[in-house]
Parts: sequence; C-alpha cells; structure tokens
Amino acid sequence: MNEFGEFLLRPEVYAPIGTIIALYLIRHYVQGRQFTKKTDETGKVVIVTGCNTGIGKETVLELAHRGATVYMACRNMVKCEEARKEIIKATGNRNIFSSQLDLSSMASIRSFATRFMSEESKLHILINNAGIMDCPRMLTKDGFEMQIGVNHMGHFLLTLLLLDVLKATAPSRIVVVSSLAHRFGTIKQHDLNSEKSYSRKFAYAQSKLANVLFTRELAKRLTGSGVTVNALHPGVVDTELIRYMRFFGWKIIKFISRPVYWVFFKTPKSGAQTTLFAALDPKLENVSGQYFSDCKPTSVGSNAKNEKVAKFLWEESEKWTGMTSHIV
Ligand SMILES: *[C@@H]1O[C@H](CO)[C@@H](O)[C@H](O)[C@H]1NC(C)=O
Repeated sequence: MNEFGEFLLRPEVYAPIGTIIALYLIRHYVQGRQFTKKTDETGKVVIVTGCNTGIGKETVLELAHRGATVYMACRNMVKCEEARKEIIKATGNRNIFSSQLDLSSMASIRSFATRFMSEESKLHILINNAGIMDCPRMLTKDGFEMQIGVNHMGHFLLTLLLLDVLKATAPSRIVVVSSLAHRFGTIKQHDLNSEKSYSRKFAYAQSKLANVLFTRELAKRLTGSGVTVNALHPGVVDTELIRYMRFFGWKIIKFISRPVYWVFFKTPKSGAQTTLFAALDPKLENVSGQYFSDCKPTSVGSNAKNEKVAKFLWEESEKWTGMTSHIV
C-alpha cells in the first residue's frame, strides 16, 4: 500500500471525512424531491399569500422564472417590496406585484380581493401559503384565535371571495399549504376558538387540520367546475416560522443549531417544491381533494377524513366570516 493509502486508513483521517460525507448524504436525502419539470407560465396570474420570506418567497421566485404574473400578498409591505425587487432583479420578470393582505383582518382580506379584481379579470392559481405557528393566545381583529383565524378562517374568506374569478378562469387551481402537524390535530367542536383552554401546539395542529378538511370539502363542492384544490405538507423547513417557536428562539440554541439546521432541515427552496408541483404539474390538471408531500400524493391523518367534521367546520367558517358560499 502506498503512503497515501496508509494516510487514509488512519482513523483521525477517515473518521471526519466519513462523517462529512455521511452528513452531506443525509442533507441531500432531507431536501427531498425537487420539481424539475419545465413549464411555461407566461400569461398565468397567480396569488401567493405570505411570501416576503421562506417558502413563499421561493415559490414566487420560481413562478417568476417561469414567466407568471404574480401578486405577492403580504402583511408587511416594506419586507414585501424588498422581496419583490429582489425577485424582479433575479428573474427579469417585471410582472411581479405586491398587494397588502393582513389575514388577521376580514376588512383587509375583503379590500385585497376587491383591489385584485379591479386589476385582473383572471386568476389561474391561488396559493394559500401564509401561516402563523405556535404563538401565545392572541386574537385577530375580528376576535378569532390567531392560529385558526389566520391559517384557516382568513384563507377560507379569501378563497371564497376569489372563487368566481377562479371559476371564470378555469382550468385553475387552489393550493393549500398545510402540514404534517394536521395529523396531531382535532377540531374542537365545542371550543373551536380555544376560549376554554389554549395550547399553542394544539391550536396550530387544529388550524392545519382545518386546512386539510377545508381542501377536501371545497374539492367536493367544486366538482365539475374546472377549479381544483389540493393541500400539502412542505416538509420541515428552516424558515422564520420555525424560528418563531420558543425553543428555537433562544439565541444560544439558534447558534448551536445552525449546523443542525443545515443537515436536517429543508432549505426554503426545497420546501417550495411540493407547492410548485401542486400548482404547476400538468399531470395534476384534473386532480382535486388530494394531499401531497415530497411531490407525491400521500394519505391524510384519520381526523382529516371525517366528512361530518369537515361539514361542521365549513358551516362554522361561513358563520364566522359572514361569507355564505353559493356552492353546495
Ligand atoms: C383533464 O380532463 C379533461 C376533460 O375531461 C381532458 O381533456 C384532459 O386530457 C385531462 N387532463 C389530464 C392531464 O388528464
């Protein structure tokens, strides 16, 4: 054996090299499938909620690369403008707009929808991406517990307000970013607004379950309309949403966890892949009411299959938002 071979066989050499290779392989595996199919989205009009950072921003970036006209619907207009300019600069696509949307205010949702419809007569894809996670008990402007209020009720109202334009544009798609966390949720039929008891994690799981139940109920109601709606789990992504969690919020933990994040969490770009798949894959043209993870269909939790609960949630959502849909 030559000297180099002997050098490589020394544990202090092969152990770190082996570890680094192993970590790279784990990281590669964690990133999951990527949506690599080429599509041309020129002329398509898309709305993405909550997209000044993280998965939402990566989603808009890719849509912009593919030529779409995108309305970035964000609460914070300063950050939204920064992201918009960055995306225009990176892609050369000037048809990227920002429009204020605060999903914790029904007045804001209504004015967003009115503004949008005064500017566009078409909407090909609505991506309900915005989400709030693991916050202390807070209320929306309309008195809804924040997590069910923003993640579900706000998007329920937004979607219903935009349904006529989606139908008029058919074939069109609605994409609902849910989470694996829906599996741990239940819909508290006697305390949907968490007035009797509140747990941050439970309220999040409830709101993500609501996303899946809403998707399945809406898909039924939209049968034959040419509008599809699908939900998805983006993967465990290193975004600000995760940093919002108390545990990860500790500065020291954040520092130590950088390399852990790097290996074990999806990047926001990888996190956007299943959303892009649901929004763009031509094969899904007639697919509705499904749930995707890692760019493929997967099964939902058992609580998400309960049609009675889905109906209860739908009717309750109509009452809360004052939005009676004419779809039955
Ligand atoms: C979707 O349905 C339409 C109408 O039935 C059909 O023309 C089209 O080929 C279908 N698309 C796919 C991808 O199956």
